Amino acid sequence: MNSIKRLSPAAARGTSALLRQAGRPQQTSTTAQRLGAWEPVRHKSGPYGYTQAKSLVYSKYGEPKDVLKLHTHSISPSFPQSTVLLRTLASSINPADVNTIQGTYGVKPTFSPLIGTTEPSVIPGNEAVFEVVNVSSPDLKVSRGDWVIPAKTGFGTWRTHALALEGDVLRVNKQGLNPTQAATAFVNPCSAYRMLRDFAEPALREGDWFIQNGANSGVGRAAIQLGRLWGYRSINVVRARDSPEKTQELKDELAALGATHVVTEDEFLSREFKDMVAQWTRGSREGIKLGMNCVGGKSAQTIAKTLGPGGAVVTYGGMSRQPVALPTGLLIFKNIRFLGFWLSRWADRDVAAKERTVNEILDLIREGKFKDVPTVEVPWSWETEEGVLRDAVQGTLEGFRAGKGVFVFGET
Ligand SMILES: NC(=O)c1ccc[n+]([C@@H]2O[C@H](COP(=O)([O-])OP(=O)(O)OC[C@H]3O[C@@H](n4cnc5c(N)ncnc54)[C@H](OP(=O)(O)O)[C@@H]3O)[C@@H](O)[C@H]2O)c1
Repeated sequence: MNSIKRLSPAAARGTSALLRQAGRPQQTSTTAQRLGAWEPVRHKSGPYGYTQAKSLVYSKYGEPKDVLKLHTHSISPSFPQSTVLLRTLASSINPADVNTIQGTYGVKPTFSPLIGTTEPSVIPGNEAVFEVVNVSSPDLKVSRGDWVIPAKTGFGTWRTHALALEGDVLRVNKQGLNPTQAATAFVNPCSAYRMLRDFAEPALREGDWFIQNGANSGVGRAAIQLGRLWGYRSINVVRARDSPEKTQELKDELAALGATHVVTEDEFLSREFKDMVAQWTRGSREGIKLGMNCVGGKSAQTIAKTLGPGGAVVTYGGMSRQPVALPTGLLIFKNIRFLGFWLSRWADRDVAAKERTVNEILDLIREGKFKDVPTVEVPWSWETEEGVLRDAVQGTLEGFRAGKGVFVFGET
């Protein structure tokens, strides 16, 4: 694993500090001179094969900008049985990760002293792709060079390296993919996949309708594309942008992904919307069978009112932070069903199903049938400062963003 790398003087200074911390003699200028044009080097492994790693951690709940810290630690080369050493290639920053750091998420992580932080802490992040850089023995299910994703929730992915049990990861076929694609194929696409497939009764068939708010979100874009592939028709609600041109641009973008109709929240909440829907869905016996809600408040209520009898509203997020209030008549007279979806519950219950669904999504990406969500890549190399990483996380819950944040790991 040792390798000689070209480093900037600043990076070399950081490296010296790191090596001092790890008890390794500092690299001398003589070494640098011997290497000719090459500047002083940092070895990926420290003394006696220890891997130098960095992780974002938090030891109390709060805003990411206040509680996230970058922690440097070493991973011993004597791996326990059935373990794999992983190097992170890319890891996404999802709204749920931020809610977990804030302490407002439905499940609380376990604070632990495992990576040598002074206080028990948690490594955030749930979605990533890693490269296997070493294995405890050659007979494991994964080998060096393979790409893997976490098998279950709570893995802690915002780190440069991880030591994991082989059973805690799933191998993915890396052919034809870039790391960002592999690192964003689980949370949003699988949520859209399961909601479209598992909640309507009877199940959606070709030609059926669904409606969703937050349609330009990662989940929304995935639902539009899967819907198009499966022959479903969709009504998609987005928030207007700051000019009519930009709003039209967004509508066109979603239409190009396969959206049947795209409306702004204002159009959706207007008196005319009911008639528009009636016209669009004329001839559909059951009306709209499925509504997907990640916004809440009035928007969720309007989705419910738009559904045909027996339709299902699946709530999977609450971006507006407004509660969902429901007119009684929808329950009594239209028998509208209100349900919640939580990906972790589904994926942790059936890891094999998770693997199948992720692989199906990855195949669609490879075949060019499923477009990537817009992303804002945040490069993370050995020199990247804590503040840069923290800032990238902090803005995640803000609206009108250019794309999903993804840490993309360079020289670590
Ligand atoms: N339950 C689950 O298992 C599960 C799984 C995946 C995701 N989710 C949830 O799904 C939601 C979307 O996640 P994502 O990763 O797809 O997010 P994303 O790509 O970051 O998109 C965020 C979406 O929320 C909208 N939004 C932000 N603030 C809003 C507000 N105040 N009112 C209305 N809309 C607002 C954005 O619209 P603008 O562009 O107009 O700001 C955008 O459509 C989140 O709540 C997330 O926690 C849940």
